[in-house]
Parts: sequence; structure tokens; C-alpha cells
Amino acid sequence: MREDLPDDFILGAATSAYQIEGAVDQDGRGMSIWDTFAAKPGAILDGSDGRHACEHYQRFPEDVALMRWLGLRAYRFSVAWPRVLPSGRGAVNTRGLDFYERLVDALLSASITPFVTLYHWDLPQVLHERGGWTSRDTAAAFAEYADVVSRRLGDRVRHWITHNEPWCTAMHGYVHGEHAPGHRDWREGLAASHHVLLSHGWAVPVIRRNAPRSEVGITLNLTYCEPASDDERDRDACRAIDGTYNRWYLDPLHGRGYPRDVIADHVARGRLDDPRLGFVQEGDLPAIAVATDMLGVNYYTRDRVRADNDGAPLSVAPQRETTDIGWEVYPEGLSTLLLRLRDEYGPSRIYITENGAAFHTSPDQTGHVHDLARQQYLHSHLRATLDACRAGVPVAGYFVWSLLDNYEWAKGYTQRFGIIWVDYTTQQRLPKDSAHWYRRVIRQHALLDPTSVAL
Ligand code: FCB
Repeated sequence: MREDLPDDFILGAATSAYQIEGAVDQDGRGMSIWDTFAAKPGAILDGSDGRHACEHYQRFPEDVALMRWLGLRAYRFSVAWPRVLPSGRGAVNTRGLDFYERLVDALLSASITPFVTLYHWDLPQVLHERGGWTSRDTAAAFAEYADVVSRRLGDRVRHWITHNEPWCTAMHGYVHGEHAPGHRDWREGLAASHHVLLSHGWAVPVIRRNAPRSEVGITLNLTYCEPASDDERDRDACRAIDGTYNRWYLDPLHGRGYPRDVIADHVARGRLDDPRLGFVQEGDLPAIAVATDMLGVNYYTRDRVRADNDGAPLSVAPQRETTDIGWEVYPEGLSTLLLRLRDEYGPSRIYITENGAAFHTSPDQTGHVHDLARQQYLHSHLRATLDACRAGVPVAGYFVWSLLDNYEWAKGYTQRFGIIWVDYTTQQRLPKDSAHWYRRVIRQHALLDPTSVAL
């Protein structure tokens, strides 16, 4: 049971700074909004924080050795803005930049291509105190930060992602209160979403200048949604969800401005006073629509939607198997989503920058982690990706979320997404069965059925 992968298809793994690095007060790192948010009673399910996480800051040589053992072609990680610019803007903390330079050099000498994400949610606390993403100044600060990092690493890093999941930054951070900074205000959330996109638009030319011949783009968490029934009201609820999750970001990035139906929903629901979007200034939309070289897609699950009595969208209970975090396993959604992207937006290149599953399977007495469910999840989603490639969608690579078990934001350490087990007391790493399977897939450059592979 083998099926070859396209020749140059990249298989990698992904992580992010706050979720793995630890070392929050080392070498001059400034505070981030996640340090403060995690300290709030009740904010994090198990009351934990990223103070130690996987101690990747100290242990990165061992982690790169594991990546080399896996045979990863590429590794996607994020740079912590507060390590590089502890005050958000201005004085550069060289020791922070040195860390990422050492990491990049270690990857390159292991023949692993670095994919750098500049913002994976850890805003410097000082910038938050000046308004965070609700302030336009933060977009300008981001472009300066992008300049500092790409100047230093631009001669070696050829793949740059400005933001990870702007929807999460804006909505979880400023509307739902689930992520740092924990606000609950639609007006703030909508302004934040615009400033995040604007900061992307301003950063792209800066990165291109410092890192010529590199690929620059953004990663979105796109949601595959379906109406729970054929009822007109449920279909409209699905349109609204697709609008706030997907089109609100895809449309302006592709030069279409913000979707009118979504603006009308926001005004009708009292989330916005002015349909002219006061936070959008002249020149912003062309800046956001800057041409990019790639689109990153993070995909985990589908969302089935119905309308409540008031017509507002509600997610209904999953119909199929779910992972530990409660997300339904629905690989078909990934291929459908990719085909839609090709048809409606035509990106020149797509990477699946995250895909993975939370299962708590722990080591048995012999020290093995038999996580067949994760292997099956990864297999079915890689399969769905290949289906889309065959249909002509330009998917150039796939990154497993995640290399290591890590700090899952508001869920703390309760969710394990890694293909490598991390014992948080001893910091021992242990490749799970899924890591052994992925290693074989990489070595043979073929999609191997997990049930037919003896590990
Ligand atoms: C994504 C995040 C990533 C991780 C996974 C499970 O939304 O980008 O950091 O938390 O979900």
C-alpha cells in the first residue's frame, strides 16, 4: 500500500515560539501578552503557562537532531517578537536574535529548510499597553520588527510567513476573550483584524527587500463549513460563518476588500456602528492586497452550522469521531477547501502549514506510544491533500502540527498534538509511533497506510 508523493512535495513539521521555547525571562526577552494572560486566574484550563514548556530554547540542538532523524525537509517555527524587541519597537536585543540565528544555522546544517513565521500570537506586552492590535501603530511596529528579523536572517531564510491565523489573533484575542489579551469587544476585534492584515501588507515589501528571492506569504485558519440542514436559515448561518472566518481575510488579501454581506451582518448585530469601517484608511486595501508567493492553510476540522432563533450561527455537535480537543475528524473538508481556494482565489502556491490531532495516548510500560489514531488522522489528511494536488491545486508541502507535544494555549498542557511525546517533568522526548510512520513516509516519499506499516 504505497502511493508516491509528487517529487518536490515538502514534508515538514511545525511549532510556535510560546508553545515550546520556555526561557521566558532569559537573555533579555521582554514580556509577552501570553505571560500576562496565562497568569490570570481561570484563563488557562490547567492554570499553566509557557514558562518552561518544552525548554526548546535550551534544548534546540536535541530537537533539531530529532528532526534530522525524522528526515524533515522543512521546519516551520515562529520568532518571539518580545525576544527580539523587548520594548516592542526600538532597541534590538541581539541575544534574542542570536538564538534564532543559531536555530536557523543548525537547521541548515541538517539540510532542513526553515519556514519562519513572524507572528504566532505573542505580542510584546508593552505594545498591548499602547492598544495592541486595536491600534494602527502596532501595524507600523510589526513592519519594523519584520525588518529587524529579515535583515538578520534574510541571507539564509527563504520562506517567510508574516502572520499565523489572523482570525485567532483578532477574534479569540479581542472578541471571545479566550486568548491573550482576553478582551470581549467586537469593535476592538474588527479593528484588530484590519490592523493585522495591514501589518502583513506593510511587512511583505520589507521582507522582500531584505530577503530577495524568498517566498513570502501569510497563514490563515480556513474553516470548512457546512449548513446543518437544507433550511434556508441554516444555509444563511453557514454563509455568515464562512464570511467571518474565511472571506473576511481572503477577500481583502486578494484585492476584493471586506465582504459586504459580512459588514451588513456586523452592523445588523450591533457589532459595528459604521458600515464604512472607520479603521480603514486610504491606501490600506491596496497595501493588504500586496502580491504574495504563497498562502498557508491551517486545517483541523469542519464546522456544521445552524441558525438559532435569532438567525445567528451556531455550531452543531460533530457527527463523526472527534479528537481529544473535541474537533471532528473530517479530511474531505480539506480537499474541498483546497479546490475552492483554487477556483475562487487562485493562489499561486499553497502549503498546509498546520494539520494534526490531539490524542493523549501515553507511553506504555515498554516506553512506546501507540498512537494509531493520530497516524490515521495524518494519513487521511495527507491523502486529502494529494487528492487536491491531483486535481490541480498547487499544494507544495504539508507540515504536521506538531513536532512536539506543547503548550496548547488556553488548554494548557491538557492537549497533546505532538508526534514526539514530551515528559514535562524530565523534558525527555520520545518519538511516538506516528513519528516512526511519518519518518517512513518521508524516507520513501510515499503515502504509506498506517495499518500496513509494521513499526
Ligand atoms: C492552531 C494554532 C496552533 C495550535 C493548533 C492546535 O490554531 O495555530 O498554535 O494551537 O491550532
